[in-house]
Amino acid sequence: MTTFNTPQIVASATGSTTSEVSIRSAKVDEASALHDLSIRSKAHWGYDAAFMTLTAPRLVLPEDWLRAERVFVAELSGSLAGVAAILPPDGDGTAELEHLFVDPPAMGRGVGAALLSSCLWLATTEGACKVRALADPQARPFYEGQGFRWVVDAPSDAIPGRMLPLMERML
Ligand SMILES: CC(C)(COP(=O)(O)OP(=O)(O)OC[C@H]1O[C@@H](n2cnc3c(N)ncnc32)[C@H](O)[C@@H]1OP(=O)(O)O)[C@@H](O)C(=O)NCCC(=O)NCCS
Repeated sequence: MTTFNTPQIVASATGSTTSEVSIRSAKVDEASALHDLSIRSKAHWGYDAAFMTLTAPRLVLPEDWLRAERVFVAELSGSLAGVAAILPPDGDGTAELEHLFVDPPAMGRGVGAALLSSCLWLATTEGACKVRALADPQARPFYEGQGFRWVVDAPSDAIPGRMLPLMERML
């Protein structure tokens, strides 16, 4: 298992204390806990039960991603706080960012940015020149703040007829 010696000290949501975000690769036996976390995270945007029923199966992390250490988790004070995955660059040097989810109690504390940073680091070490993410529309401002730009609206593979912003960042 890969552990990253790049903990970040970030301000908490209250600004009155500090919390340490640490990033490591996910373990295969964390799949169920990470699925539950991802569902809580997605539901945070206020989607209804029908939407969540369609979406939940898409939030299962493929076991081969976990075994290949394509998945990072963030811990805050030793507890799981978020997850993200990055796929190897394709022939054009484009790496896909997948499955970025922060547990609602941990939002706004630098967890998403720390996970993204680890994914971009791995993509860069693997020779990627570009990262793409099919984003939730409500997460678009987060991506824009992290240096991504909107490319096109593309269809969701979970919800028929739903269009999502495809975001891109050069490395
Ligand atoms: C989007 C998400 C990953 C952001 O994670 P987070 O840990 O809350 O974000 P961070 O605390 O790391 O924020 C980093 C910066 O982005 C900003 N930001 C975060 N979410 C934002 C949002 N929804 N709108 C605008 N800015 C946002 C923060 O203010 C912060 O800005 P700063 O660097 O100027 O202080 C998280 O809200 C989430 O998991 N949402 C639900 C699931 C989802 O939509 N995931 C993305 C799927 S594509």
